[in-house]
Amino acid sequence: MKRGFLSAADLTRDGALGLFALAAELKQQWKAGRRPSPLAGRTLALIFEKPSLRTRVTLEVGLIQLGGRAVYLSGHEIGLGTRESVADIARNLSRWVDGIAARVYEHATVEGLARHATVPVINALSDFEHPCQALADFFTLWERGLDLSRLRLAWVGDGNNVCHSVVLLGALFGTTTVVACPPGYGPDARVVEVVRRLGGRYELTEDPRAAATGADVLYTDVWTSMGQEAERERRLEVFRRYQINETLVGFARPSALVMHCLPAHRGEEITDGVLDGPQSIVLDQAENRLHAQKAIILQLLGGSPDDV
Ligand code: CP
Ligand code: NVA
Repeated sequence: MKRGFLSAADLTRDGALGLFALAAELKQQWKAGRRPSPLAGRTLALIFEKPSLRTRVTLEVGLIQLGGRAVYLSGHEIGLGTRESVADIARNLSRWVDGIAARVYEHATVEGLARHATVPVINALSDFEHPCQALADFFTLWERGLDLSRLRLAWVGDGNNVCHSVVLLGALFGTTTVVACPPGYGPDARVVEVVRRLGGRYELTEDPRAAATGADVLYTDVWTSMGQEAERERRLEVFRRYQINETLVGFARPSALVMHCLPAHRGEEITDGVLDGPQSIVLDQAENRLHAQKAIILQLLGGSPDDV
């Protein structure tokens, strides 16, 4: 993860475990009231082409907590690829800021930023991956003391950006990931290829009950991601059988945890009862976006661990 964090596949297992240890230390330190400023004077540009609650707040607040500052730029405001090319924006920003985080429609945009920037670039969600989310998710499981290599994680719903990052990180940790999708909505073949190359334990099924049976973790996300709004009616129909509800949770282990990256479309991919129920850890995931991303930023922007 030297030049940035575009994909969950940029990490090694040891690198990810190192980030977990750093995130845990930062979380514990913040809760204990210690306030060092290892990134004093450092800045991160935040480029957002799409809406965000969690990612924007946790990146900005994370920077502030580490003593640095974030500069928010909407894609519309800077005309990413219209007013000015992605390459020129990357070159200019590199003269002023210490890092760039970008939420974009096309994954090629964040790759273009990384190619032309001389500062680290973080993928804050693209149509292909959401690596910050997956890192925080596995950190959430790890901090509960779970053995990631023995877990069976069932992904139920769309084989989308979040799914891609989750199965890639799962492959690094030896987690068994079982993806249940309607035909034609599974993870991209390029992601499956990387998972295979990493020796990951990965299965694909069309049957949500088969995926959920014996699962330690049930994970879902919206059926219609940002940018797919025109397909919403069709997707509501296609995904109807792929809801995490009380019946589906009954197929998982009694101790199973329920995850969702949020925002949720309540009553579509997940019921209120499950999302707000005792097995749901969605707010722990959201909280840990802050701590996991602080670890990423600290590592990429070069704050000395001695200052932490
Ligand atoms: N999970 C997530 O990335 O949330 P936002 O879209 O609100 O940032
Ligand atoms: N798959 C969703 C994730 C939102 C955090 C989307 O891309 O809209």
